[in-house]
Amino acid sequence: MKKLFIVANWKSNKTIKDTEKWLHDFDEGFKRKQLSFESKEIIIAPSFTLLEHALYCSSNLKLHIKFAAQNISSFDEGAYTGEVSAKQIKELADYVIVGHSERRKNFGESDDIVNQKIEQSLEYELTPILCVSKLEQVQSSKFKVQSYSSKLKSYDNSMIVAYEPLFAIGSGVPDTPENADIMAQSIKKELGEIPVLYGGSVTSDNVKSFTSMPHIDGVLVGGASLDPLEFLKIIQNA
Ligand code: PGA
Repeated sequence: MKKLFIVANWKSNKTIKDTEKWLHDFDEGFKRKQLSFESKEIIIAPSFTLLEHALYCSSNLKLHIKFAAQNISSFDEGAYTGEVSAKQIKELADYVIVGHSERRKNFGESDDIVNQKIEQSLEYELTPILCVSKLEQVQSSKFKVQSYSSKLKSYDNSMIVAYEPLFAIGSGVPDTPENADIMAQSIKKELGEIPVLYGGSVTSDNVKSFTSMPHIDGVLVGGASLDPLEFLKIIQNA
């Protein structure tokens, strides 16, 4: 059975109180449904302000989930007011989302900046979840990724790519599983056998159509992850 990665991207949603409730409801639902996370890596990406408390609550509840940051500084630690460095994130998370289309579009993140962020993540052994909407974005990061190839071999899940077509994000209109699978296959051709996820309007009703494709290793879920019970259903149906 292939390992699946199910990632919840909360974006700029939820307060500390909301986070406590989400984790509590998630835990209750998980126990009630007697679910198993076997061969599934569940990753939650809350805002920076929520990470520490989310980690604390999750370890109290003994939840088998991992955390991701939604962004990372392109610089190392130092005089960069307002930025959060890889070294700081590493204390709280194992993964970091890099190059999400909302950052490329709203915050002017170029491929160069994205590549610096990949470099920072890999320097501190955080696994980047690189979001791309087209193959050229993968090709532009290929050199950076290859320059870390020996380091990448030294830890598990060293790099993940999420294919997220722009039209599908938040629209309720996902790509077809067949298209997404072709993209996943092309991404693996460029970067080697790394996990490739699909993202864009994933719900509990359509998740299986993506995870059952041969080259897709999981999903990145935005809107549907805000409700813990819907997210549990996505995990269950994946
Ligand atoms: P969506 O967002 O599931 O709400 O379409 C996905 C994403 O932006 O990662």
